[in-house]
Amino acid sequence: MVSYKELGLVNTREMFAKAIKGGYAIPAFNFNNMEQLQAIIKAAAETKSPVILQVSKGARNYANQTLLRYMAQGAVEYAKELGWEHPQIVLHLDHGDSFELCKSCVDFGFSSVMIDASSLPYEENIALTKKVVEYAHQFDVTVEAELGVLAGVEDEVSSAVSHYTKPEEVVDFATRSGCDSLAISIGTSHGAYKFTPEQCTRDPKTGKLVPPPLAFDVLDAVMEQLPGFPIVLHGSSSVPQEYVDMINSLGGKLPDAIGIPEEQLRKAAKSAVCKINIDSDSRLAFTAAVRKVLTEKPGEFDPRKYCGLARDFMEDLYKHKIIDVLGSNGKAE
Ligand code: G3H
Ligand code: 13P
Ligand code: ZN
Repeated sequence: MVSYKELGLVNTREMFAKAIKGGYAIPAFNFNNMEQLQAIIKAAAETKSPVILQVSKGARNYANQTLLRYMAQGAVEYAKELGWEHPQIVLHLDHGDSFELCKSCVDFGFSSVMIDASSLPYEENIALTKKVVEYAHQFDVTVEAELGVLAGVEDEVSSAVSHYTKPEEVVDFATRSGCDSLAISIGTSHGAYKFTPEQCTRDPKTGKLVPPPLAFDVLDAVMEQLPGFPIVLHGSSSVPQEYVDMINSLGGKLPDAIGIPEEQLRKAAKSAVCKINIDSDSRLAFTAAVRKVLTEKPGEFDPRKYCGLARDFMEDLYKHKIIDVLGSNGKAE
């Protein structure tokens, strides 16, 4: 058993309470490799932003759970080396799909876990979430749950359609499960194709696709039911057009990739939404950089050259999210 406290990590409790009060959101960035982690920590340290490092089940399988945990521990030291005296870093399991996986993460030094039982019937979602909460809380590890179903692929759970969270269920769910935060479905989804072109309108001036707005009425109703309760938004990448264009012009194929407009996320960050999940944008930035270097210098075969540019692109992206979208800069001085 390793306590996250020994690793210099923090849980989400205080962080979320401050974010709700302060009208900003904490960035939750997924990582699978060293360059992503370096970029996240540099961006957070330079902007003094609290940050959540997210590890999915797939990331654990890809990178090895032991290595990832020591990387997170190293991240705390790296942050200090960068001059961030009191880093506020959470190590979080993203989309945990079983009690065993969540328990293993708690035992392994994670400070926060998500149990995503949103694909199960309501009562089973409550029962499994409660079981994880009862275990995690013994070690002061915070637990995120999910109610409602996002469209697209949720790790190995897939759903073709989205089912918005039912506001009339949230009080019962949060009370009986004991979760610390709740991921809700209001129209976001995972990946780089969040809407089909048919769901969008076209801007007559630019010809670009404009997605439909998020269901802020559902968010408002949830907040009315659960005043001050931490709400989480998954699937919140904006799919920056500059990266999509770069990838497409350099031999890639991402037709009509579309994300959540930043102004919608800015609005959400000011509410009780205190954690905003971003993974796909980092993947796009990484891919754009790799394509750029390998296209411009076909003879290049030093991974540090293309992974190095990828790291620069991601650092810029993370800083932009922190400063211009979520507003979490300077909140962890
Ligand atoms: O919500 C899903 C995250 O983007 C993680 O994706 O399972 O491919 O690591 P992954
Ligand atoms: P995106 O695919 O929009 O980046 O969402 C990531 C996410 O929700 C991770 O849990
Ligand atoms: Zn997610």
